[in-house]
Amino acid sequence: MKILGIESSCDECAAAVVENGTWVLSNVVATQIPFHAKYNGVVPELASRMHTEWIDGVVREALEKASLGPADLDGVAATAHPGLLGSLLVGLSFAKAFAWARGLPFIAINHMLAHLYAPRLMATGAVTDYPFLGLLVSGGHSIICRVDDFDTITVLGTTIDDAVGEAFDKVSKYYGFGYPGGDYIDKLAKTGDSTAFRFPLPSLHKGDHPYDVSYSGLKTAVINQLEQFRSKNTVTVRPEDIAASFQKTAVEILLRSLFRAAEDTGLSAIVAGGGVAANSYLRSRLAERTDLRCVFPPLEYCGDNGAMIAGIGYQYLARGDRSPLSVTASARVQGFRKKYP
Ligand code: KG4
Ligand code: ZN
Repeated sequence: MKILGIESSCDECAAAVVENGTWVLSNVVATQIPFHAKYNGVVPELASRMHTEWIDGVVREALEKASLGPADLDGVAATAHPGLLGSLLVGLSFAKAFAWARGLPFIAINHMLAHLYAPRLMATGAVTDYPFLGLLVSGGHSIICRVDDFDTITVLGTTIDDAVGEAFDKVSKYYGFGYPGGDYIDKLAKTGDSTAFRFPLPSLHKGDHPYDVSYSGLKTAVINQLEQFRSKNTVTVRPEDIAASFQKTAVEILLRSLFRAAEDTGLSAIVAGGGVAANSYLRSRLAERTDLRCVFPPLEYCGDNGAMIAGIGYQYLARGDRSPLSVTASARVQGFRKKYP
């Protein structure tokens, strides 16, 4: 079965064709990053307008690269939630119209479940059996979950304030490192001294919410109270050192909860997904834990892409699931909400 997957939840306008949930025949990602960079963040109105202008061309290119026409497809999948409402609506409406016009089955997809599905693409050998722990880390989410199937997860922990990617982006914005911040900080940190600043780890109420994380304290410390956490008497504050010290603490916050969840659940396999899963320090720290098996999607499938949507879409469509064309987009998805508004 060849499935067309469409993704437009944020600032990537993406489409892909995937065969039998695994083989990526094409994967086109048109990023809007350069257009949002001057604002140091995604401007929702601009994003949805650009999706509207680009979606047709992106889908055409995905079909061309797969050397297929619409008649060769067996189904259409599109992200319906969570994300920016205006942006989601563009991809979702396009996908529904496409499916209706071609008489194809259609399925609406939860973007976060698709990130967890990404390592199953391309038969990388990275596939791990269920159940496993999921680590969903992006600009909008920081979620630690138990994954029992491609469509069944239990959220064990989430952020009580900012998402981890958001913290990377805000620190980067403040220091003018570049947008989006994660990749810039990751690269800067490679030549930095991660012990130059000792930023505090949040103290959460471990009893009630043992796997929750928090990033607003770290963000404030790095942005407003830098001097207070300087651990060395160096005269100049080097951007590399700020990046390395921040990144080390940001990753530590995640790992503290993740490792605790692994211990408590007895699950030793972890699948990471979302843009922050591209972080090289996070990857190296997880690689050190030889008692855990951590699976990362290939870098091209870490960020938002259509292939993960088509891949998971196949799993639903193959077992006969269909979404009605009346399905609509939603910015949030139940069960993924922050626990404390
Ligand atoms: O999953 P994604 O592409 O979009 C959503 O937010 O849904 O994730 C984007 C986020 C941004 O916050 C970006 O700064 C972060 O992923 N990111 C990284 C890295 N590459 C991207 N964060 C840390 N290290 C990276 N190498
Ligand atoms: Zn994402």
